Amino acid sequence: MCGIIGYGGFREAGPVLLQGLLLLEYRGYDSFGIAVDGGDRLHAIKRVGRISDLPNDKPLFPSLASDGEKNWHVGIGHTRWATHGPPSDKNAHPHYDCTGKIAIVHNGIIENYHPLKEQLIRDGHSFSSDTDSEVIAHLIEEAYFEKKEEGPIPKRRLAEAVEIVTGKIFGSYAILVTAVGVDEIVAVRSSGPLVLGIGDSEFIFASDMLPIIEYTNRVVYPDDGDIVCVTNSGYHIHRKGDGKRALDSRSEAERKEEYPITVLSLTLQQVKKGGYPHYMLKEIYEEPEVLYQAVHSLTPDTIPQILLDEDYITVVACGTSYHAGMIFAHLLEAMSEKIVKLEIGSEFKYAHSPVRGVLLTISQSGETADTVAAVRRGGCFNRETVAITNVLGSSITREADHTLLMHAGPEISVAATKSFIAQLGVLLQMVNIMSGEICGEELSHVHKAIVPILSLSYDAAVDICAHSEHMFYVGRGVFYPVVMEGALKLKEISYIHAEAYAAGELKHGPFALLSPETPVVAVCLPGPSYAVMTGNLKEIKARGAPLIVLGDPHAPELIDIADCIIPIKHEGMMTDIITTSVALQLLAYYVAVKLGRDIDKPRNLAKSVTVE
Ligand code: F6R
Repeated sequence: MCGIIGYGGFREAGPVLLQGLLLLEYRGYDSFGIAVDGGDRLHAIKRVGRISDLPNDKPLFPSLASDGEKNWHVGIGHTRWATHGPPSDKNAHPHYDCTGKIAIVHNGIIENYHPLKEQLIRDGHSFSSDTDSEVIAHLIEEAYFEKKEEGPIPKRRLAEAVEIVTGKIFGSYAILVTAVGVDEIVAVRSSGPLVLGIGDSEFIFASDMLPIIEYTNRVVYPDDGDIVCVTNSGYHIHRKGDGKRALDSRSEAERKEEYPITVLSLTLQQVKKGGYPHYMLKEIYEEPEVLYQAVHSLTPDTIPQILLDEDYITVVACGTSYHAGMIFAHLLEAMSEKIVKLEIGSEFKYAHSPVRGVLLTISQSGETADTVAAVRRGGCFNRETVAITNVLGSSITREADHTLLMHAGPEISVAATKSFIAQLGVLLQMVNIMSGEICGEELSHVHKAIVPILSLSYDAAVDICAHSEHMFYVGRGVFYPVVMEGALKLKEISYIHAEAYAAGELKHGPFALLSPETPVVAVCLPGPSYAVMTGNLKEIKARGAPLIVLGDPHAPELIDIADCIIPIKHEGMMTDIITTSVALQLLAYYVAVKLGRDIDKPRNLAKSVTVE
């Protein structure tokens, strides 16, 4: 969570930073800030709220306007998802040292900040925020300045001071630092995402490539512990463990060899809304293409051999990705001899048993702290690790032995939609390959079945849901995780409380809550559990709960009991999983539209959960 950005180049830094932060807002959006080096002092904006609230009819920093002569501009920025201290102007980044000459932005958590802060206070430092991050600025002050009567004087290079500080802090972080008059940005990461874009006489650091592609498609991914500096003479990477080797002693050729420049194929158009009212809707409409790509990216030749050889698979993921893992586990165990153990990322570290078999992790962002930690835990047990992710170069791709990309393209809306469908594409194809391609033919056409779902009318169902405070979602077998994901989508973007149950479980307690005020959404398609499922729906209806069914609109047994049927044609297990999932995403979307919610940036959330 949180997005960071840094710019060094010939353009005015402030507008570049704010423009970039808008693209990073999906990572956190309760407050934001930027600091730009004005030569004699830092000019800053730190605000609670959204960047779009900032008036755009005035120059950002009027006193910098006369600075037109300057040909090298430096600044850093941050968009926040609060962890330590509530959203407020004072807790917004950048944070400063006591002299006000050093500014930092930080994504992640400094786990030992408390004792460090106490010591710094004893040493005479005063703090302006409740954040863990502010200690970084004060520690750099200690390492960088010598305090003289006439004022603080730098005693070493800023990059060296930052390196000293990395020896004192622990946790997960990506940090950018600048100081008055140095015309330099220093960056360091430890398990936090950070990319450096290398343009023509300009450089841009960011938490991901989205703000970078407007300026360049050439990027470098620094490793944990590397100290990266950009100045008007270029960029320098000081590799962890290089000891006292001068930061810029490495030749250009040496640097390129160690840090290959990746050329991104992403275009600016791919990250724009393209006429849709929300990114979420755009991303749902991309699902047919995304699913096709995901399914066809995996073949018996590209699947890691270990997945074919091992009989035991441990799957770890969080949130939506966990639901994709549930569907995979259900189908693979049904269609092969393999045993799948599924774990929630945040609970995996408490498991007492050793990690067994091959470890498979699923993560759209590739940055979810608990899922990345799971890969490391797998490594500790000498397990081979496979990561399914959407982001090349993300932390998980560096930790895992094998990476399978889901090819969904950038997902901007906080609620995962197309990435879930892409995960299913990869995972269902894996099931086919690992079980001897029982229904490979069905999967190769399944993307076409999404198209009619996009144009269904959801109005009647939306009317029922939008007036409720509480709802239930029910399904059986493989449709239980499908409705879990549907309920998650509804609650996160509409703020309606929605609980998912295996349909048979509802009468073991939750029935007490059923009333005309608690609509129930059910997936009921032909299959082995159809008869018992329709029986469950009758029981629900008898308790007065309004019933929305995803099923056959012509089935008399459904017409009898449903208040509304979202028509889904039964075509086969894999197709049905996809079509019902898409329909539930659209239902959640249209309910949230009706309620006027902030769909792409729901309250209290962030897209990439980089803290445990
Ligand atoms: C829900 C959602 C989250 C993520 C979860 C894991 O719409 O997006 O539940 O699925 O935070 O994220 P990744 O897949 O990036 O590890």
